[in-house]
Amino acid sequence: MFDPAKIRRDFPILSQKSGTRDLVYLDNAATAQKPQVVIDAIARFYRCENANIHRGLYHLSAEATTAFEKARERVAAFINAPEPDACVFTRGATEGINLVASSWGRSRLRPGDEILLTELEHHADIVPWQLVAEETGAIVRVAKLDPKTGTLDLEHWRSQLSDKTKIACFCHISNALGTVNPIGEMVRLAHAAGALTLVDAAQSAPHLPIDVQALACDFLVFSGHKTFAPTGIGILYGRKDLLDAMPPYQAGGDMIDRVSFSGTTFREAPARFEAGTPNICGAVGLGVALEYFKAFQKDAADYEHRLTQYAVEKLSEIEGMRFFGPVRTAGTAGILSFHLGKIHPSDIATMLDTYGICTRVGHHCAMPLMAALGITGTVRASLAFYNTYAEIDTLADALIRIKKMF
Ligand code: ALA
Repeated sequence: MFDPAKIRRDFPILSQKSGTRDLVYLDNAATAQKPQVVIDAIARFYRCENANIHRGLYHLSAEATTAFEKARERVAAFINAPEPDACVFTRGATEGINLVASSWGRSRLRPGDEILLTELEHHADIVPWQLVAEETGAIVRVAKLDPKTGTLDLEHWRSQLSDKTKIACFCHISNALGTVNPIGEMVRLAHAAGALTLVDAAQSAPHLPIDVQALACDFLVFSGHKTFAPTGIGILYGRKDLLDAMPPYQAGGDMIDRVSFSGTTFREAPARFEAGTPNICGAVGLGVALEYFKAFQKDAADYEHRLTQYAVEKLSEIEGMRFFGPVRTAGTAGILSFHLGKIHPSDIATMLDTYGICTRVGHHCAMPLMAALGITGTVRASLAFYNTYAEIDTLADALIRIKKMF
């Protein structure tokens, strides 16, 4: 039985104070907190296992290599990848997208080819494609959002697909609104048009189960730090045949087959894309975080869903509350993006901080999405399974006080 009060005790930072107030951490979409098992795994790695990987013929290096590759196996199990070698360690979701845009995009895109994005995307899923489009002469197409519902206009998205579309890139969950995209259908439709697909799962990996084989996507990225692991580590999943045919993204040690001044050959994925010494300890931490989370992932999702509904009801009682995104219809995977009357979002977030409440404010790295909504930013409260009903009450009380003050 999932017990949020017990789970919460696994996260030491959550019992900390913010000034004199209890810390109320509602910025999980920006980064999640780390459980003690992950903190312990990092300490243990540096205390007992630290050495470079894939290089040393001594016992300690073999242990570090085993720990690193075991983490890759855990990642593969977490997303049901057909093999661990389809999972490339990156710095995060952003680097995964940049890797695909730079390697696949630069080598495959030709003038007039199309890249299909959506208005819901984070800048990390827009700018790498703009850069590669400038270089290759490819065209970026953008599917519209329905500003009334905060959901993707699927008909418009479908109308933008054609035999010119070479890749469709879309988020599973919008980081700014929490909108959950129908990614299964989108992958099917994109494939029917002959396009590859890249799913940005940065916001969904900590909330929803991911099965890349059932989804049949070509690429999928997520970040470790949002899934209870350290910062500076993330995953690019790619179809192995695609990865092995892509040119290297960065060059250096460990990614080569043979080097000579007359030419160099490269190893297959994932090594081909992991030049230099990687974030070994980060990978180990990610493996431990995913094992920890996987044990109660489904119950956590159910709890988060109930907590989000409670938060929507509670905050809706406040006069002047305006939500963005499908909070009442499709649900928003733990993200509440809002305005309160005419109070500037930055003032709200600054005042919330005096109550010990951490939120994010602004455009959430999604300026085109804000423009489509006709606003410049929102306050965003984003939940995780360790948040409580009492914390939602604290947020609601603080907002009522702030409303009175302004
Ligand atoms: N992408 C992260 C967010 O939405 C940082 O806050």
